[in-house]
Amino acid sequence: MNIEKNIAIVGLGQVGLYLYNELNSKKKEIEIKTGKKIKIVAISAKNKNKKRRFKIDKKIFFTNPIKIFKQKKIDILFECIGQSDGMSKKIVEYALKNKINVITPNKALIAKHGDALSKIAEKNNVNLEFEASVAGGIPILRTIKEGLATNKISKVYGILNGTTNYILSEMENSNETFDLVLKKAQKLGYAEPGNPKLDLNGFDAFAKIRILSALSFNTKISKSNCIMEGIQNIKLEDIKTASKLGLRVKLLGISEIINGRLFETVHPCLVSKNTYIGNVNGVMNAVITEGKPVGESLLQGEGAGPGPTSSSLLSDLLSILRGNIKYPFGISYKKRKSIKTFNNDNYANSLYLRFEVKDKQGVLSLITNRLSKFRISVKRIIQTPDKKNNKATIVIITHKTTEINIRKCLSLFKKNKNILKHPTLIRLYN
Ligand SMILES: NC(=O)c1ccc[n+]([C@@H]2O[C@H](COP(=O)([O-])OP(=O)(O)OC[C@H]3O[C@@H](n4cnc5c(N)ncnc54)[C@H](OP(=O)(O)O)[C@@H]3O)[C@@H](O)[C@H]2O)c1
Repeated sequence: MNIEKNIAIVGLGQVGLYLYNELNSKKKEIEIKTGKKIKIVAISAKNKNKKRRFKIDKKIFFTNPIKIFKQKKIDILFECIGQSDGMSKKIVEYALKNKINVITPNKALIAKHGDALSKIAEKNNVNLEFEASVAGGIPILRTIKEGLATNKISKVYGILNGTTNYILSEMENSNETFDLVLKKAQKLGYAEPGNPKLDLNGFDAFAKIRILSALSFNTKISKSNCIMEGIQNIKLEDIKTASKLGLRVKLLGISEIINGRLFETVHPCLVSKNTYIGNVNGVMNAVITEGKPVGESLLQGEGAGPGPTSSSLLSDLLSILRGNIKYPFGISYKKRKSIKTFNNDNYANSLYLRFEVKDKQGVLSLITNRLSKFRISVKRIIQTPDKKNNKATIVIITHKTTEINIRKCLSLFKKNKNILKHPTLIRLYN
């Protein structure tokens, strides 16, 4: 007998609504691939009468999602609201405790509560799937959990936010400022119209890095105080100078085990135009893993948008329908270790430093002397005078130095009347 699986979708925004349409149009295909019939028996959003891109069945609409569970038998819940707490957490917890499988694209929820939620899922022998929470349509979580299951992963990194990658690429291509390109991104739907802050300041990529670390290293989700910097301070002139040096600015998320300790970070990096990661442009995401014995593996694809996100949500659904009940983070909650974190002060990189200074004799030597006091050696200097305004821009590329050194050194520059602004720092990646 082919029993129907009852589905509820909570949240009918960009992702939830697209998913609703996909599920309706792919019912037959899903049945052929899994042997299971599906039926959407409940949908929920805040506003029943809101005009939406696709027609919805208002007979199954719930304004209060909690009521769904009281009135319908649900087998699988799609949580597509997107809060880290509030109603998102409430319904996911409720569903798991009541032996209902949960699928969510909500990275904020998983990065914050993934450990506790996976514990509840395991206890109740149901699935909590969140493939779409990291890198949209790229099947990176399943690849780590299944395809690379017996490898010892030592590093996972990449471009995890399509909005910022689009902005950086477009600034280089169009020669336009950050503000102009951000407006373009908002018009195209790549950046949130109201508040794009969480994409721009690295927070979104950081939530994804925390999820990737837990899966890659079989650890609990870390609460480390990592270096998190976004792209808000990247100027067109940084992109142009970098380009002349054969480099590109990319916002990278990096997670690795250094001397047995976990190091996680998100910050803009200068990467060579000749590298693979230097050529992942526009809204594309890419994730690279380094493991033994497999070596380096990489996956590239669209990291956001309702289409790619739904592709991952459906892949989670098919996994559940095929009866693949497994641990949300690959191994059981009890076996996932807490891990000590690497001291950020010891993180070392070559640096790009841009100083805006008064065009006066002795300013360059003042800068280089200060750097050398902190044992930061200079590899390259590019000086561009602005005679009209009696100013100059000095770009210095340094040899490798530690975070603690550069922090101490740069703090001194704040107090100098010849240095007009706090210097811009971009780390070079390898
Ligand atoms: N958009 C993307 O490209 C993308 C990519 C990957 C992952 N994600 C993740 O997918 C999730 C959803 O993103 P989205 O872009 O689809 O967000 P969205 O467009 O803002 O949609 C949110 C939906 O939640 C509904 N909602 C809000 N509060 C509710 C409540 N208390 N009860 C029931 N429904 C409620 C809203 O209702 P109304 O429509 O009535 O206002 C809306 O339909 C987020 O976790 C996001 O991080 C999104």
